Amino acid sequence: MSTNSKKTFFVTTPIYYVNDVPHIGHAYTTIIADTLARFHRLAGQDVFFLTGTDEHGQKIEKAAAEKGLTPKALADAVVGRAQDLWKALDISHDFFVRTTMDFHEKGVQKLFKILLDKGDIYKGEYKGWYCVSDENFLSDDVPLDAESCKTCPDCGKKASLVSEETYFFRLSAYQDRLLKLYEDHPEFVRPQSRLNEVASFVRGGLKDLSITRTTVKWGIPVPGDPKHTIYVWFDALFNYVTAIGYDWNMARYEKFWPADVQLVGKDILRFHAVYWPAFLMAAGLPLPRTVFGHGWWLKDDTKMSKSKGNVLDPHVLLKVFGPDPLRYFLLREIPIGQDGNFSHEGFLHRVNSDLANDFGNLVQRTLTMIGNYFGGAIDDPASETAEDAKVRTDFEELKGRVFDLYEACTLNKALEEIWAYIGMVNKYLADNEPWIMAKDASRRPRLARVLLQAAAAIRGASYLVYPVMPRSVEKVWGFLGETKKPADVLWEALDFGGFGPGRKVGMPQALFPRVALKDFLGEEAGPPAAAPAAGPEPIIKGANIMDIITYDEFRRMDLRVAQILEAERVPGATKILKLKIDIGTEQRQMIAGVAETYTPEELVGRKLIVIVNLKPAVIRGIESQAMLLAAITPDNKAVIPFFDRDIQAGAIVK
Ligand code: MSP
Repeated sequence: MSTNSKKTFFVTTPIYYVNDVPHIGHAYTTIIADTLARFHRLAGQDVFFLTGTDEHGQKIEKAAAEKGLTPKALADAVVGRAQDLWKALDISHDFFVRTTMDFHEKGVQKLFKILLDKGDIYKGEYKGWYCVSDENFLSDDVPLDAESCKTCPDCGKKASLVSEETYFFRLSAYQDRLLKLYEDHPEFVRPQSRLNEVASFVRGGLKDLSITRTTVKWGIPVPGDPKHTIYVWFDALFNYVTAIGYDWNMARYEKFWPADVQLVGKDILRFHAVYWPAFLMAAGLPLPRTVFGHGWWLKDDTKMSKSKGNVLDPHVLLKVFGPDPLRYFLLREIPIGQDGNFSHEGFLHRVNSDLANDFGNLVQRTLTMIGNYFGGAIDDPASETAEDAKVRTDFEELKGRVFDLYEACTLNKALEEIWAYIGMVNKYLADNEPWIMAKDASRRPRLARVLLQAAAAIRGASYLVYPVMPRSVEKVWGFLGETKKPADVLWEALDFGGFGPGRKVGMPQALFPRVALKDFLGEEAGPPAAAPAAGPEPIIKGANIMDIITYDEFRRMDLRVAQILEAERVPGATKILKLKIDIGTEQRQMIAGVAETYTPEELVGRKLIVIVNLKPAVIRGIESQAMLLAAITPDNKAVIPFFDRDIQAGAIVK
């Protein structure tokens, strides 16, 4: 674990255009920034996390006109929806900047003037190919056609060669200083592969940059020459300094600038790694430490974007899962520099296996056993064996490694390491079989030790995940009887022994829903049609509806909520498990045909529906005193319907 002596940490996202509401791609950048901000707060640093919206320019002017709104009215509407999304994703930004804010417009004008007075901005003539229909200058990359004309790549219409009075920024003068920056500070652009791309672009030669427009009305007026508005990128980039106080709260500006990490998508890296440092050099302001160019989330192998119509609306996922599964998935799936393909199958697989099975079940089982065997507070644990000690020492090493990984922004690796540890703790429990120990009073101190170790491991591992999944980890800490929130404990103060004997734990509630793909896609597609389409042959066994029964007949079934206390395999039988259940008034044993779908370990602690007045049956020599309800898959496997919230054992089901 490295000692971080720097007292402050400043992280930024790009400011998002307000021509449309943010989608999963935008959420990705913001979630990375939020995770880094939360981690650095745990590390004890004074953090400033900035995000916001980019509201000027032709793009917004056009989108507003199409909707019959003023640009400001469009921006106001979209900003509200973006802020709602950030709230739903538990984004903990310290400030939300809008480029239409007064201090920002004044700051940009002041910086423009400084550069003008210095001679780094000068007035000239911009000659170029202009698309009248799109009101846009074509980039130099667009080739001349056979008639020596250019065609607009966006709308396909012929462009005209025009010249316009404009102010230029003397970018060409900064080529050498930029190359020296990349050489002296290779960490300025990450990942390394992108630094190489940027440097070779600059080596290819830089032309002065036109930074004003007379054709765009919706922009900040050039000071003293208001027929020009300032080019949207000059305006937008300076948000990073105006928002923290440049020219209006200099104490705060000086405290936080330069930024430690500026996150941007690879499509806008050139603006941030070439123009931005050149603007700052010209203004005599310090440069950010790192500009991190992340990859794209693709859908069907194409960048998600509104214009392609392939964006995923995060609200659908948030409605079903809450924020944490999405936060976890986006960060766990790919390293920050690479592209990722978003699929619902991939998402559900990760959520079900890493979150519901590995993490959720560990919490559920451990706390349920502490509740059942110790009334919620572990007493008199045996001293640690070497195997128990390993659970502790592995955690201590993990804590150091994960610190370094978070600090280096390698978030997927940090999660990978934490999940390897969670897997190890699951195995430790399975190997020790506490549910067997519980049957033997002489093994109680060992049982206490094993459950204590598991609970301390859960507390520690979940703390390490806090920057990624704050809401779920707060819940876990609540179940563990912690009075503090994870955010109130500094990284260096977090120790494995923080969970000790005598601590009263609560009964866990469901942490992560386990959702099947077809249910989820049904959810996304909206409610199912009222009547199912009639098919030739029912493919599911028993799908023919049975004869009508009366309510009184139905009422003769005594259905109850039962909690599984113990589960074990039946020697020589592959399909059945022997369960011990609590039905509120008493405990019973039963046989359940679920061994092909569930392991005994994953069932302990779970609550389900059983019928308690069915005539007992003897199966494999064991009396089964209840029967559980389960759905049968086409290949004859039993899937148990669990509850979506906690309910006491014994509750009547009707
Ligand atoms: N307004 C400019 C940024 C100005 S910063 C001074 C802008 N806005 S944007 O709304 O178009 O995009 C903002 C960020 O979202 C960019 O970093 C972009 O890379 C990112 N993403 C947009 N779609 C994305 C994906 N499909 N995947 C990942 N990130 C993507 O550019």
